[in-house]
Amino acid sequence: MFPRARLLQNAAKKIVKSSVAQHSTKTSKKSSSLPWVAAGALATTVAGAGATLYASDYNLHPPKYEWSHSGPLESLDHASIRRGYQVYKQVCAACHSMEYIAYRHLVGVSHSEEEAKTLAEQIQVVDGPDEDGNMFERPGKLSDYFPQPYANEEAARAANNGAYPPDLSMITLARHGGEDYIFALLTGYREDPPAGIDLREGQAYNVYFPGQAIGMAQQLYPGVMEYDDGTPATVAQMAKDVSTFLVWAAEPHFDERKRMGMKVLTILSFMAGILLYYKRHKWSVLKTRKLVYKSING
Ligand code: HEC
Repeated sequence: MFPRARLLQNAAKKIVKSSVAQHSTKTSKKSSSLPWVAAGALATTVAGAGATLYASDYNLHPPKYEWSHSGPLESLDHASIRRGYQVYKQVCAACHSMEYIAYRHLVGVSHSEEEAKTLAEQIQVVDGPDEDGNMFERPGKLSDYFPQPYANEEAARAANNGAYPPDLSMITLARHGGEDYIFALLTGYREDPPAGIDLREGQAYNVYFPGQAIGMAQQLYPGVMEYDDGTPATVAQMAKDVSTFLVWAAEPHFDERKRMGMKVLTILSFMAGILLYYKRHKWSVLKTRKLVYKSING
């Protein structure tokens, strides 16, 4: 760590210590102020260390992309969600789970009920026990969640040189930059790392990954898959579609939330007009009265 960060941390620690010491000499009368002082000092520590760390590890921030769903009135592109599901299923699902998404969630969003049922039936789910106490396998149903690629975290790490492919259900909310980051990450691989950067076995160089050495090799190449709807599967197209799909997965109520926001704003603006009129009506008597003071004794 840089000396400045250590200095800041030490200073913050002292503040915490002295505020604790001061507090313990007083009686418990002022007990409510201690948590605030400590929280403030802690925030200084975190902010100090955080700022220095950010400046020092040379992270490249993803650019802001023009998503068709950014903006207060724009809904998600559902054709893109559908294509994004296909990318997830054919490419990412080999390593990444999406444990909070079930086939029924796709119904009415990207697939019809029939289509979602067909997709679910393609997987085998362990169910049971049956009347003899045995577990058995059956085709998936709408209520089944997406299958997990690995039995547990250890198996996942063992298959990926020790790196753990995180669950993608909430990934756009779990990473700084959201879908901009996911898109930038998927398209941010460079063939040769610059001089001075050593990659370990199984690592690839990605300019947007914090630390730049990522345990996931480039996944999207031209021709890695073909879209059912005939869209040319370029790298950027696949990255954009899977990012949109992941936005929907993390925020299934994205469209509903925006529609609700518009309704609320419309109703509130009507109400504001009515309230203004009512307020002026009520105050008109007071505001238009005239006060006259007469001196009695001349
Ligand atoms: C061959 C296995 C594999 C496939 C296929 C794969 N990934 Fe990964 N992914 C990984 C591993 C391993 C990591 C952890 C990397 C690390 O921590 O260094 C990872 C990490 C990630 C991360 C998290 C990066 C971060 O900031 O922590 C995202 C997002 C991601 N993958 C998205 C995808 C998407 C989207 C696809 C499909 C287009 C995909 N992955 C396909 C193995 C895979």
